[in-house]
Amino acid sequence: MLTQEDNELICRVGPGTPMGEVMRRYWHPLLISDELPEPDCPPVRARLLGEDLIAFRDTNGKIGLIAESCPHRGASLFFGINQECGIMCIYHGWKFDVNGDCIDMPSDMPGSGFKEKVHVAAYPTVESAGVIWAYMGPKEKQPPPPNYIFNNLPPDHVIAYRVPIYCNYLQSMEGNIDSTHLGTLHVYHQDKVPVDLDTDRPGYPSPKFALYSRAKYRYARVDVQDTDYGFRLIAERPTDAGNKYIRTNCFVLPYTAFIAAQRRGPAGVLIQVPIDDYTNQRVGIRYNVHAPFTAAERRQTIETGALMDPNEPKKRLKRAENDYMVDRWAQKNTILAGIWPIPEQDYALIETMGAIYDRTKEHLYGGDAAIIRCRQMLLAMARNIQEGIDPPGLDPDIPTHMIQSEEIVIGPDDDPWLVAADAGETTKRGERLR
Ligand code: FES
Ligand SMILES: [Fe+2]
Repeated sequence: MLTQEDNELICRVGPGTPMGEVMRRYWHPLLISDELPEPDCPPVRARLLGEDLIAFRDTNGKIGLIAESCPHRGASLFFGINQECGIMCIYHGWKFDVNGDCIDMPSDMPGSGFKEKVHVAAYPTVESAGVIWAYMGPKEKQPPPPNYIFNNLPPDHVIAYRVPIYCNYLQSMEGNIDSTHLGTLHVYHQDKVPVDLDTDRPGYPSPKFALYSRAKYRYARVDVQDTDYGFRLIAERPTDAGNKYIRTNCFVLPYTAFIAAQRRGPAGVLIQVPIDDYTNQRVGIRYNVHAPFTAAERRQTIETGALMDPNEPKKRLKRAENDYMVDRWAQKNTILAGIWPIPEQDYALIETMGAIYDRTKEHLYGGDAAIIRCRQMLLAMARNIQEGIDPPGLDPDIPTHMIQSEEIVIGPDDDPWLVAADAGETTKRGERLR
């Protein structure tokens, strides 16, 4: 549990808050590139860390990310016209470029020169992995752009989507480093029937065997190891043949999780970006080092990760007001959650904790080891930044491009810490780098 003060400290991310200042030192995935498909296309609204913003792609293809409120008298630049290298406010015609400079003021007296004095807040962006990333911190502290494995793959090897989640970022993110819920929330009753036991030997298990193992052994021994980028966690389950079924996740500060996946196939990260204190967005990035995705895989990944309401496309179809369309018959007969697809199972439970979950009331156990470590790190960052100490994980020498998760079966005497150590992690059990 946390005290109310500590809970507030790590959940609040608006301008001027300690965690807000911490968050502003990192690049954030904000929009999917397809949302600004071509030069001079319509601008889109974006909100990040409690600030209302407008994104646009100018005539030269450059991305602008500026405050929504026009600095003249506050009209929304969402209604602005994006053309000829800038966005023009349709109230009095003030026009701003991607740097936030006012480049035209047709309603001012000719020759006044007032436009030279006017700027709108503008934030730097980069585009990679099909995502538009934004940086909102001090210019002199700006880190190099994101350099994960998926930032370095051809576009057809990467699928990105984003979906709104109606609660604070932290409880969303905690679900992504919580291995013990896999044996309950995400289980089909049919998974409990043993199948493919021939893959119960050191090496990669079949997907069905992995599901069976999680459904049968609903507990996991969770162990955490600090790294320069955050931490690596191992969830270890027994198998029927006496082996160990291992899942490793990598948690990258401040809110990214590389979800356990076999290195011979596709993998994914879940990034829980704080929109404001009460909303976050999941940016899911699925990637495959070995092969491009098919069009069908692309469509299915996006539709499953972001199941939107056809009548209100900015809202999720399944949400609190319709109880996530829970199916009580399915709960007892097919899928334990009674909610489908899988991401909606997570969204339903993390949203119904409340907009900001009250962590003074919880009871943590051993399976929550990664969640406890994550909060300790975030709390330290929020306290340290008030003392002028920069957040960790931003050193350009950290080999973030080598971070990968793993899912594998190892022998009874094998050491799980030898699995999947690439990005400067130690391979010794329990050893801490910091
Ligand atoms: S409010 Fe935007 S130009 Fe006047
Ligand atoms: Fe989950």
